[in-house]
Amino acid sequence: MNDLVQLGSHAAGPPAELIFGDWYPALRSRGLRVGKMTTALLLGVPLVLGRKKDGRLFAMRDLCPHRGIPLSAGWFDGENVQCKYHGWKFEPCSGQCREIPSLTQHETLEPGKIYAGAYPCEERDGYAWVYMPEAGTGRASYFSAAGADELPPVPELPKFSAKYRSAHLVADLPCNVDHGIIGLMDPAHGPFVHQAWWWRSRASIHEKTKHFEPIPQGFRMSSHAPSANSAPYKLLGVYGEPITTTIDFVLPNRRYETIRAGAKWFSSLTTVTPVTPSTCRIDVLAAWNVFYHVPFVTSIATYFGARFVAQDQQTMIEQAQGLRYHPGLMLIDDADKPAKWYFALKQARLKGTGEHPLNGPVTLHWRS
Ligand code: FES
Ligand SMILES: [Fe+2]
Repeated sequence: MNDLVQLGSHAAGPPAELIFGDWYPALRSRGLRVGKMTTALLLGVPLVLGRKKDGRLFAMRDLCPHRGIPLSAGWFDGENVQCKYHGWKFEPCSGQCREIPSLTQHETLEPGKIYAGAYPCEERDGYAWVYMPEAGTGRASYFSAAGADELPPVPELPKFSAKYRSAHLVADLPCNVDHGIIGLMDPAHGPFVHQAWWWRSRASIHEKTKHFEPIPQGFRMSSHAPSANSAPYKLLGVYGEPITTTIDFVLPNRRYETIRAGAKWFSSLTTVTPVTPSTCRIDVLAAWNVFYHVPFVTSIATYFGARFVAQDQQTMIEQAQGLRYHPGLMLIDDADKPAKWYFALKQARLKGTGEHPLNGPVTLHWRS
C-alpha cells in the first residue's frame, strides 16, 4: 500500500455537507484480523472495525453507549467486544449488549435491549465497506425498521475475466469531499498537474469533444475512442483492437472507468471518501488483464499510479492553503460542467427532489 503523505488536521479547509445513507470504503480489510480492533474515521464518525472468528467484518461506532469511552480501548476476543470501563459486552455486528457485569437479580434491566452503534460492514475488493446511515439513525432502530435487504448494493470494481491483476492506491487530501470530487472529474488540470515525459506534455493540449448522458445518480462520459495523446491508451493499442472507454460518475463519490479492447480490459474504481466534513481520502482500485504475463507490471503500474495521485495530492495540499481564506470560487463552461452537474446531483439527493441536471445526452467541448 502506498500511503502518500500523512496530513495534519491543521491543513484542513472549510467543511462540506455529507451524504449519509450509502456505502463508503473505511479501510483495507487485509489488516482486519480475528481478535484485533482497528479504528477509522468515516464522515466524521469514529469507528472501530474488526473480524469475528467466523470471518465476518464489523464496524461499530467507537463509543460505549454507557459512558462514551471508545470501545477500541477495551477487548475483543473474536466474538464479543468488551468495554474497558465497566465491562459491558457487545455482539459487534448487531451492536447488541450481551452482558452487564454489575447487574444483580434485583435489577430488571435487560442488556439485550441496549445497543451500541453498529453499521453494516461488507468486504469487497479488499476493502471494508461501511454503510453510514442517515444521521441520528442508530443501528437498533435502523435494522429493525429497514432491514439489511433494503440497503443499496455494496459497490464493486467491474471485472471482465476470471484472471486479472489488481492494484490500489490511497492518498489523504486536506480539502473537503467536494473539492476532492470535482478535482477528480476536472479535465482541464491534466496538462498542468500531470506533466511527465511518460504521460503527456503541456504542449499536447488540444480541443476535445466529449459526449455525456445521464445515468441514475450520476452521468456517463459515453463510450468513445480515448484521446490519442495519453500513453496508457497507446500501450493498450498494441493489441490492434478498437478501444472503447466509459467513465461513469455515480453519487455519492464513485468514478468508474472501463477501457476495453477486444478481450483485453482495464477497469478502475476511484472513490473520494469524507474522513471528516473538511478532509477526505482518495482510493484508487484498478484491475486489468492486459500484460497479464509481464513480470513486475503491478509494481510498475502502482509506481506510475502513485506518481499520478501524488501530483493531484500535492496540488490539493496547496489549494487547501488558499481555501482556508474562504475565497469565492468559479465554475466555467464547458470544462467545469461535470462539476456543476455533481453539485446539482448532490443537492437533489440531499433534498430528495429526484431532479437530474441532465435531461438527455450533452456534448461538451474543452481544451486539455
Ligand atoms: S462506559 Fe462502557 S461499560 Fe461503562
Ligand atoms: Fe488529476
